[in-house]
Amino acid sequence: MDAHAPSEPGQVTDRNLALELVRVTEAAAIAASRWVGLGKKNDADGAAVEAMRVAFDTVAIAGTVVIGEGEMDEAPMLFIGEKVGAGGPAMDIAVDPLEGTTLTAKGGPNAIATVALAQRGGFLHAPDIYMDKIAVGGGLPDGVVGLDVSVGENLRNLARAKKCEVSDLVACILDRDRHKEIIAQAREAGARIMLISDGDVAGVIATAMPESEVDIYLGSGGAPEGVLAAAALRCIGGQMQGRLMFEDDTQVARAREMGVTDPNHVFTLTEMAKGDVMFAATGVTSGAMLRGVRRFGGGALTHSVVMRSRSGTVRFIEGHHNFTTKTWIGR
Ligand code: FBP
Repeated sequence: MDAHAPSEPGQVTDRNLALELVRVTEAAAIAASRWVGLGKKNDADGAAVEAMRVAFDTVAIAGTVVIGEGEMDEAPMLFIGEKVGAGGPAMDIAVDPLEGTTLTAKGGPNAIATVALAQRGGFLHAPDIYMDKIAVGGGLPDGVVGLDVSVGENLRNLARAKKCEVSDLVACILDRDRHKEIIAQAREAGARIMLISDGDVAGVIATAMPESEVDIYLGSGGAPEGVLAAAALRCIGGQMQGRLMFEDDTQVARAREMGVTDPNHVFTLTEMAKGDVMFAATGVTSGAMLRGVRRFGGGALTHSVVMRSRSGTVRFIEGHHNFTTKTWIGR
């Protein structure tokens, strides 16, 4: 496909959609930023969801939420199956209006508002359960790491591919008791470790950002977050695998309804986000990739990123928002 060819109307990567998508994440981030450090993660999340939902009304697509805030009966807005957009080409949407609710409530780093678009059927319909994940950045041999290989072996293979020592590598892992074993194995292999308290979408993306010091992401987190991270890696390049972690038969049955036939399947990057994909995020609090929302009298400054799989272009956008003229945006 010619990445320089003008987008056809209706393609996910229609260039005009990039800015439309950023408007949506900006609105959610600004709304959530009002709650930074206030210790109220649900209020922060609610504000982001509402602002994102309103912002979608002006986007020229016929969108269906496939990764959202939950099932229709448990989420008032942006629930799975909800139709959003002002009308236009049919597209699937993955959203996490506030990725890092606790980070926001505590004023911690790396909280983002995020959205991804794909052509119909492009995203894995992941239930809201845990997913075991492994990810590395681009430019590495196919299959250099994998979920069915031990942590030590993965790190040694990655070091060999990157022509460095295991002790040069940094593994990003969520700081959770369930990861004690992975952390111990990574330490035993000699890797350095970056433990994060929350926000594994940013953690996975960090593996593919040249300026970040993260080489590999390891461990389990939300499956919906896994799909969003996969969408971003599809755009910037990288490898990722994910395996759903079921706790009971009800979850297996639910996943089956959503189209997952083999509960033990290891999903590749393209199985999680295939075809034309676009990903956008706006920083709520500052992190390695994005600066957080800076609020001032009468307005706010936002920092966003938007990426397209078709061209591989990554754009950083600074938004200066005037609340006196833009009265609908979250304040
Ligand atoms: P929320 O924004 O919903 O709070 O999710 C934050 C997060 O850290 C995700 O990035 C991650 O996938 C998930 O929670 C991990 O779940 P848990 O906190 O249960 O380990």
